[in-house]
Order: sequence, then C-alpha cells, then structure tokens
Amino acid sequence: MRNRRMPESDYISRLRAAYLDLMRDSLTGRLNEDPPLPSSKVEGYKPDYREQGWDWPSKAPSMIGTLRMENVRRECERVIAENVPGDFVETGVWRGGAAIMMREVLAAYEITDRRVVAADSFEGFPAQTDADTNFTVGGIADFAVSLDAVKANFARYGLLDEQVIFLKGLFADTLPSAPTQSIAVLRLDGDLYESTRDGLVLYDKLSAGGTLIADDYFLFEGQRKAIDEFRSARGIADPIIRIDHFGGYWVKR
Ligand SMILES: C[S@@+](CC[C@H](N)C(=O)[O-])C[C@H]1O[C@@H](n2cnc3c(N)ncnc32)[C@H](O)[C@@H]1O
Repeated sequence: MRNRRMPESDYISRLRAAYLDLMRDSLTGRLNEDPPLPSSKVEGYKPDYREQGWDWPSKAPSMIGTLRMENVRRECERVIAENVPGDFVETGVWRGGAAIMMREVLAAYEITDRRVVAADSFEGFPAQTDADTNFTVGGIADFAVSLDAVKANFARYGLLDEQVIFLKGLFADTLPSAPTQSIAVLRLDGDLYESTRDGLVLYDKLSAGGTLIADDYFLFEGQRKAIDEFRSARGIADPIIRIDHFGGYWVKR
C-alpha cells in the first residue's frame, strides 16, 4: 500500500524493484523451490545451490542462479540509467530465463527502442574441442530446448513480442549477421571455447559503457581461454568483476 506522503516516483521505483525481485526468483526457481533436474546430480532443493546456479531447475526457465540473474538485471538497469545505447543480447539461452529478465527490465522501464536478441541452436551444444578440458555436460539431453519451448516461456511471462528476436542456429552461422547495430549488454553463455569465441564477434558492436558478461569465466576452462585470448589480442584491460562462483563481467571503457 502506498504511503500518502511518499512521492509517486518513489512508489513506482519500489514497485519496479519488487517486480524484478519477484521475476529473478521465479526465473531461477527459487520462488517455488523448484527441485533440481536428475541430470544435475543434486539431491533435493538447496538454497545455496540455487543462489550460485550449481544445479539446474526442473521447470524454471534459467539455470544461472539468483546471483547471476541479479547481475543481468542490474547491468541492464545500469546501462538504461547511464544512457548507454544498444540492445541486450544473450548467446546461449537454454529455456530463455536470462533473456526473459532482459526483456522484463525493458518492460519495467517502458523502453520500446531497445530489443533483446536471443541466440541458440535450440538443439543443445555443438561438439566440444580440446580446449574444453573440464566441460562434461555436452551430451545431456536436458540442454536441448526447442525454440517453441523458449517462446512459450517468454509468453508465460507476457513478454513474447516484436522486441524479442530469436536467432536459431550455431553462433558461427548466425552471429556475424545478427540484426543489431549496437549492443549495451552482451551476455555470453555458450560455455564452450568456440561458442565463446564465436560470440565475441559481437564485441565491436558493444557500446562504450556497455557490459560483457561471461557466464562461466571462472568455471569452464574453454570459456576462460577464449575470453583471455580475446582480451589479450585486443589489449583490453577493463577489470573482470566476479559475480559469484562461476560468472564474471567487465564494463567496456
Ligand atoms: C548453459 S546453457 C544457457 C543457460 C541460460 N543462459 C539460462 O539462463 O539458463 C548453454 C546454451 O548454449 C547453447 N549453445 C552452446 N554453444 C552454442 C553454439 N555454438 N551455437 C548455438 N547454441 C549454442 C546450448 O544450446 C545451450 O542452450
């Protein structure tokens, strides 16, 4: 209930924050303590696992956990507040959860001139390479989520519209001609060396002040190698900020 002495703008800010908090917890399965998929080999719902994204929810649309979901939300909010131009892009969407959060932030701020680009094979991972030394989840059927299923998840949150662009296919084929001129948040969640390297083709479209998120920088050696090679080749010195056990990001200066 609104306190009569509270300015309306403060009240709207509070409502927006409450909406995005609720969405973070719904999208990660924290809200309903969604139990883990058997393939994630974790027994029962564990709050600390869901916070860090150490298990994969049975039904909720994202496996990234609440800390990395909060990072998606905060970086999207930050670039809006700082007028950093561009779309929000995720490469590797699985059931769509993090991309749904991107679209939710646009909805919460009534922004109609930015889009969300969601790229995936919608058929699971391609073959891994020798660089993906500690990647062990490639063949798991739970990672193959169809485009129709992802669209249904967006629709369930009332967010399936023309502001969301789906790119179906391997990143190497779809991203070089991705229909976006400038990007404010670029989130790489393809896990693998080549998938990360192929996502970095979009880096030149990332605006100054925009954010590059590497979902598994501190987990998968393949992703870290691709990022480290790219940063070294480009002379990028913007510090990588740790989000949680697995994820990192930097702001392009
Ligand atoms: C860890 S999941 C993404 C999790 C998701 N961001 C979330 O919010 O739960 C990785 C996804 O990347 C996709 N993927 C990995 N490499 C790819 C590639 N080279 N081309 C297309 N899709 C790829 C897989 O199909 C899978 O859906």
